[in-house]
Amino acid sequence: MTTVEPRHYGLPDDAVIQGSIRIVTDHAPRIFTWQYDREGDRLVTLYNKAMSSQWNSVTELDWAAEVDPERLVATSQQSQGLVSLARTAKELPGSPFNNWNEAEFSQLGIESFKATLSQFMHGEQGAMMVAAKIVETAPWIDAKYYASTQTTDEARHTEVFAKYLHTKLGDAYPMNPYLDGHITALLEDSRWDIAYLGMQIVIESLALASFGIMLHETEEPLLRKLLRYVMANEARHVAFGVLSLSEYYEDLTEPELKDRQEFLAENTVRNRDRTTTPEIWERLGMNFEVAAPALHEAAAKTDMSVFKNFQKGFNAKLVPNVRKLGLLDANNGHLRKLWDEAGLMKWEFADDTASDYESYDAVAADRAANQQTERSNEPEHA
Ligand SMILES: [Fe+2]
Ligand SMILES: [Fe+2]
Repeated sequence: MTTVEPRHYGLPDDAVIQGSIRIVTDHAPRIFTWQYDREGDRLVTLYNKAMSSQWNSVTELDWAAEVDPERLVATSQQSQGLVSLARTAKELPGSPFNNWNEAEFSQLGIESFKATLSQFMHGEQGAMMVAAKIVETAPWIDAKYYASTQTTDEARHTEVFAKYLHTKLGDAYPMNPYLDGHITALLEDSRWDIAYLGMQIVIESLALASFGIMLHETEEPLLRKLLRYVMANEARHVAFGVLSLSEYYEDLTEPELKDRQEFLAENTVRNRDRTTTPEIWERLGMNFEVAAPALHEAAAKTDMSVFKNFQKGFNAKLVPNVRKLGLLDANNGHLRKLWDEAGLMKWEFADDTASDYESYDAVAADRAANQQTERSNEPEHA
């Protein structure tokens, strides 16, 4: 019998590490600053709030809760959207879904939900790395301090989504190519503000929209609390981006601002294909190439409004935040024109996250409610 020596520190096997890592080369210079004076009042306030609203992923979430995956996904529009697409595809002559039964549709709902949570998890790891990049590359001490708290927040977010998937639902899915390409580009870019713009403004707005939809739909208590607490942090992260970049962009030239406008156009109107996870079909024993034509045909016959909710939530966050950065109107309104043609400008004056982030602070709200309960339970003094 062969005995295997335990490895030190519980590190995974070398082969596992080699098979699961990817190397990204960052071209941005690291910046030390010797200027320790606190300058941005609003950023200092945000940093102080970030410190006081930290939460503990082990003690503040009830991980012992039982989760029934079928019940969990029954209310999920996103998962059920894909299921109803497959149901429509089943009716098409010669469709690969012709033989599908209820058990398979139910499994599709669960797999679709897992794929969504997997993208949340990978996106959170990307956010952790981009926040760490901002610590290293931003030129102001207040931004470095704030991004340090964000790095910790994103570590906790990655950890809780990974734990929820692993302990309640099963195997995760790989990162989808859109998210992968977008985050890799942010990590590689030599301009530190592009990492900010891409993460704090685009991906964080996207995350707020996705988490908001899931929170609205689910009744599962553990996932609800997890999402409320994650969103409390994310709203502050968007506010951090808006506060920092609006000052920085005041001093950029029109050609430099054009680059930033083009970056936003690229990630919105020119690229809307964010949600494909072909591996879902493989797990259900079907090749994506085989499933795709029937799904496309079904999409033309199905009410796709469930997918539009996400786009609405995303734009309602993104557009007002970008307005605050001054990027709509630079270069004679270059981005305003592009977004107007795409129908996005109706969101220009929706609530912007630089001012509404406190309304998301579920952590502070829960703590205030607990204190209130404790006070009312105290015996009255004679
Ligand atoms: Fe996050
Ligand atoms: Fe975040």
